[in-house]
Amino acid sequence: MEEQSTLLKVSGLKKYFPVKGTQIIGGKRMLKAVDDVSFSVEKGSIMGVIGESGCGKSTMGRTILKLTEPSGGSVRYKDKILFDVEGRQEIGKKELLKTRKEIQMIFQDSYSALDPRQNILKVLSEGVVKHKVTDKGSVKDYCAHILSLCGLEESALYRFPHEFSGGQRQRIGIARALAVGPEFIVCDEPTVALDVSVQSQILNLMLDLKENMSLTYLFISHNIGVVKHFCDKIAVMYLGRFVETGNAYELCREPLHPYTQALLSAVPITNPWEKKKRIYLEGSIPEGSDIPKGCRFHTRCRHAQERCRIEEPGLSEAAPGRFAACHLY
Ligand SMILES: Nc1ncnc2c1ncn2[C@@H]1O[C@H](COP(=O)(O)OP(=O)(O)OP(=O)(O)O)[C@@H](O)[C@H]1O
Ligand SMILES: [Mg+2]
Repeated sequence: MEEQSTLLKVSGLKKYFPVKGTQIIGGKRMLKAVDDVSFSVEKGSIMGVIGESGCGKSTMGRTILKLTEPSGGSVRYKDKILFDVEGRQEIGKKELLKTRKEIQMIFQDSYSALDPRQNILKVLSEGVVKHKVTDKGSVKDYCAHILSLCGLEESALYRFPHEFSGGQRQRIGIARALAVGPEFIVCDEPTVALDVSVQSQILNLMLDLKENMSLTYLFISHNIGVVKHFCDKIAVMYLGRFVETGNAYELCREPLHPYTQALLSAVPITNPWEKKKRIYLEGSIPEGSDIPKGCRFHTRCRHAQERCRIEEPGLSEAAPGRFAACHLY
């Protein structure tokens, strides 16, 4: 049997930001937005990353694509090392440009991601021309074709971002990513600002495109209810670190980490016969510049014991293919 091939491999990824106006002995205080994250994404799969606002999801996506400088760790895409901070390796400028054609990102905020002064033809054609996706004479027809794949009319080419609804703008964001012919797309909360019915239209569109164009997605969301039916694998992120990973179906059916249990208990019930007790998390999410000692979740955990205040648990295999960073396992 042919083995699944790994498209993206992230190892020990870190992104720290200096906290403004602070000076401690030996340097500035750091906000650890992404703090030692490792995972791999198989070709043709959808990997979901979920977690509360501010846990580092967008920063992780941007750092993987080298849109911001990493503080540590390495990322490999197919056989290319994009960077390896500890091994002092970095991809060259030309190679990076080529890789950007293969890896695209759909941004969280479709409005600020689009230049208000550019019409949609300009928005879409920029990458198409830069990466020489099609010959000059057929750029317009090509862009119209990509728009139609995303459910928009050709006349949209001559309109400006503010003339569209939120759902339409998100379709434009998807079209812009697709236009350069990528293999891998980092989708950063592509449906977050949309109402539920438009949200499911966009998700269905993305699923169709994935099947028809053999794409692979890294899908970032703060809503586990959204990614539940959509992803193959899920990673749950808390304060810059993965606290649970596993097969999406199993992780949602039987969450192991108390944080995942709380997130899932907040998802509205769709089956009227299902009974579920909401688990309320105590307090609010601590600052990334002030991560609690021991288990970083212990300040909000209903099962916290003495050990959790002292010793940080690593991700360990709690059941076949299921990993949790928790002393309960
Ligand atoms: N350029 C930056 N400079 C300093 N701090 C930053 C910067 N970008 C992000 N941060 C901080 O890093 C942490 C993670 O932010 P990030 O945007 O990655 O979170 P997120 O999980 O995507 O949240 P959301 O669900 O709200 O989009 C936050 O504490 C944020 O304030
Ligand atoms: Mg974000």
